[in-house]
Amino acid sequence: MPSDKFQKNDADRAHLWIRRMWNNAADSYRETAELMFSQLVDDQIALAAVQPGDRLLDVGCGTGLLAERVATRHADTTVLAVDPSERMIEHAQSRLESYPHAEARVARAEELPVEDASVDILTASLSLMFMIDKTAGAAELARVLKSGGRIVASVWTGEETSDLVRFRAILRSFVPPPPMDGLGAGALADPSLLLAPLADHGVTTETTTRDYSYRFPNLDTMWDALVTPTSGHLEPETIAAMHRAVVEQMWPEPDQPRDFRNRAILITGRKR
Ligand SMILES: C[S@@+](CC[C@H](N)C(=O)[O-])C[C@H]1O[C@@H](n2cnc3c(N)ncnc32)[C@H](O)[C@@H]1O
Repeated sequence: MPSDKFQKNDADRAHLWIRRMWNNAADSYRETAELMFSQLVDDQIALAAVQPGDRLLDVGCGTGLLAERVATRHADTTVLAVDPSERMIEHAQSRLESYPHAEARVARAEELPVEDASVDILTASLSLMFMIDKTAGAAELARVLKSGGRIVASVWTGEETSDLVRFRAILRSFVPPPPMDGLGAGALADPSLLLAPLADHGVTTETTTRDYSYRFPNLDTMWDALVTPTSGHLEPETIAAMHRAVVEQMWPEPDQPRDFRNRAILITGRKR
């Protein structure tokens, strides 16, 4: 049930915008971008402390990296991975096809295709900031957790501490704004927007922060991984202006390597 402040038409446009963005990004995400998050994914799997027989739901699974790692390491766990992007789900399905106890399906956090109180562990790696209605989304995450069920999630901090968020903010200054406020990589830099409604639905949480670093050999490599796949509709002059701004503000020697440093907020929680 969406919260009152969201009009259905606005929400539909925002869903479409997000699905398109991630469909366009999916192939390069599988090739390069997900490598940036490999350690973060492993840290979340460690926090999940999966037990034999657990039913794990991975929300916003992207290309299925976390789900595949869990399926490989825990043959006795049932894994369902969901994501609203059809192209992401194609990648996740191809990764999971050899695991009879794992599957991937198109769905979003706000409408999960599972019964009430049926999930032991819900993971959501870097995905919940793209929920359009964080309040309704939190209620849905809580709905599917069993009593005693756990959540492990990650979101980025703001532009001061996360290069990815800063980078996206620079790019956004050249394009029309998203169809709604509060969407994008830094949208849960204040995690209370998610944690308060989770608490209202009986999920108590704790947070910790951790820094992650990924070295790109030069700006062009990063550009091909993170910008080119989603910028096909932009004028060449706009792309050139974005490139100049990133050089000026973040990468003064574009032929040289640069570490992208990102601070994640790791969220762990339990349903009463
Ligand atoms: C940065 S990627 C993270 C993918 C993967 N979890 C990982 O850690 O590599 C963000 C993902 O969130 C998904 N997403 C966007 N809106 C969502 C929503 N409302 N519910 C669930 N996932 C969503 C996107 O389609 C995308 O695959």
